[in-house]
Amino acid sequence: MNALDILKQDHERVKDLFAEYDTLSGDGSKRNDIAQTVLKELEIHSRVEEDIFYPAMRARSGKDGKELVRHSMSEHEAIDELVAELKETDPSDPDFDDRFLELMEDVEEHFEEEEAEMFPKARILGKELDVIGRQIQEEKDSLRT
Ligand SMILES: [Fe+2]
Repeated sequence: MNALDILKQDHERVKDLFAEYDTLSGDGSKRNDIAQTVLKELEIHSRVEEDIFYPAMRARSGKDGKELVRHSMSEHEAIDELVAELKETDPSDPDFDDRFLELMEDVEEHFEEEEAEMFPKARILGKELDVIGRQIQEEKDSLRT
């Protein structure tokens, strides 16, 4: 799979988990399982973008592309902070749910921006997207184990 297909698939998976979290308001433990899966998935997703995808974008694109990378990185910082905070918060704490909803909003906005602006620009990478895709898959596999 090329890099963009993998990253989009990650986005879809996290969005599905968000939707499931939303529908499970009555079932605390299942809801918490989903929240913990989201936190882990987001950590891995951010890592592979920052380690592999963004550097390739930065190297190969012009001023606009570099600015998009800078913008995405600053959004990752805010998201990473929320993820770290949530990992330290007891899921039964009422703050957890508020924070998680905040995370959902930020992440969905970030995904939309990437898909609308950065991913179309990344087409400039051409065949390199396949190579990067393989690297992303390898790093994801190693972060999961
Ligand atoms: Fe991202």
